[in-house]
Amino acid sequence: MPGEPLILVSNRGPVTFSRAPDGARERVRSGGGLVTALAGLTDHTPALWISAAMSDEDAEVARMSEGPFDLPEVGVETRGKFVVIDRETYHQYYNVVANPMLWFIQHYLWDLSNAPDIRREELDAWEQGYLSANRSFAAAVIEELDAAPARVVMLHDYHLYTAPEAIRQAHPAAFLHFFVHIPWSQPDYWRVLPPHIREAVLRGLLANDIVAFHTPRYARNFMLCCEELLDARVDFDHRVVRHGRRDVWVRSYPISVNAPEFERLAASAEVAQEEAAILRRRRAHLLVRVDRTDLSKNTLRGFKAYDVFLDRHPEFREDITFFALLQPSRQDVDEYVEYLAKIREVVSYINTKHGNTDWMPIDLRIQSNLPLAVAAYKHYDVLLVNPVYDGMNLIAKEAPLVNERRGVLILSENVGAHEELGAFALSVNPFDVEAQAQAIYQALVMPADEREGRQNEIKRIVRENNVAKWLEHQQVDIQRKRVADRRRGVVPA
Ligand code: G6P
Repeated sequence: MPGEPLILVSNRGPVTFSRAPDGARERVRSGGGLVTALAGLTDHTPALWISAAMSDEDAEVARMSEGPFDLPEVGVETRGKFVVIDRETYHQYYNVVANPMLWFIQHYLWDLSNAPDIRREELDAWEQGYLSANRSFAAAVIEELDAAPARVVMLHDYHLYTAPEAIRQAHPAAFLHFFVHIPWSQPDYWRVLPPHIREAVLRGLLANDIVAFHTPRYARNFMLCCEELLDARVDFDHRVVRHGRRDVWVRSYPISVNAPEFERLAASAEVAQEEAAILRRRRAHLLVRVDRTDLSKNTLRGFKAYDVFLDRHPEFREDITFFALLQPSRQDVDEYVEYLAKIREVVSYINTKHGNTDWMPIDLRIQSNLPLAVAAYKHYDVLLVNPVYDGMNLIAKEAPLVNERRGVLILSENVGAHEELGAFALSVNPFDVEAQAQAIYQALVMPADEREGRQNEIKRIVRENNVAKWLEHQQVDIQRKRVADRRRGVVPA
């Protein structure tokens, strides 16, 4: 990006600090899809990365540095800046509003006959948690723009929907780019939220110059929401929403992975060590899934499909293992705690029903272990990626890239990656357990040359649509939009 370093804003930052037993300050790299993607972005451009202080030590770093600090381990030239939010506000913002409220709305996860109940607690969490945390993020950005107003600001994800409006008020000519990494649901589903909340979300997003999604489907849903819920003027052909005097561009850019880096990781000694264990235990066939224990990932139906498959095809008994590596997630939210308990129950039911003393049909690991995940990616015969809804799903891209067994990808039609990879995967409706059971069978009996052909195509697409392209396409649009706005006299030239 030409000019001053980019200002990146996301709730979770690339590192968090802690104290070692000997009193030394330690830096720990954060995980998760979003941080990995943004770290890829910082490999290409200098940036200041503003994020929430997650630990007491982070807050201490913020106090001591009184501004940006160096992040030598991240990107080409990255500095960090923490936003310190008090514990209660953070809890309301993150555990009551962002997860689950907004996350559930955007992945269609509410069982509407039962939930959500929007009570005083939720309304207060919106006012005192979400809006307040967003004001703090906005203040941190405004401070930077006060010194250098021409810097491009890129905000990321559902934690930060209302921050752009405050930034825009303070800096009417700022360039604000917002990327939503999760799906965008249809207008009626947003009606679950009271009008003042859903309108604030939309207004917040329309304070940006560009609002970006992974796929055209989400971009379209967003424009429909602007039209129906905010009465905004929308030009669907040019993908522009009129908001006040400003035009907001709505675009889609499918994110990808850093293929060479991931391939290096796959060739590392730590992965080799985990591979040895997988190979020692493997039966003739290996079915794999790797996910966070998130309700959107549809883990339960995946196991139910495997149960049906074993009922239908006893010839595969003792010859197959379903290796499920599930990383515990958001255990401060009740729904997630219950979901993990249900996962354990279903697995134990299936293992008791089909297994015996020699054979455990499902090898369930509840842990976060990247080398083990990558080892499993290298050796699966079938990879199950069946989310109910998912913004992109990078596992569907990373795993085939390093797979060495012509493995077949079973892919939900409701994940962002399906637009690019669906034609070469076995595409399934994530609610259709029968179809998923059938897909497992079809994948296992597919001729080797067909498996190879499909996998090669997936590898090619993932290598071609790389992270550099993802960033480049956004940069081009940022420049174009700036030029278009100057011509219209929206910002001072
Ligand atoms: C997933 C989603 C991202 C989201 C992140 C938040 O990775 O795909 O869009 O930002 O979760 O995770 P966290 O652990 O920071 O709550």
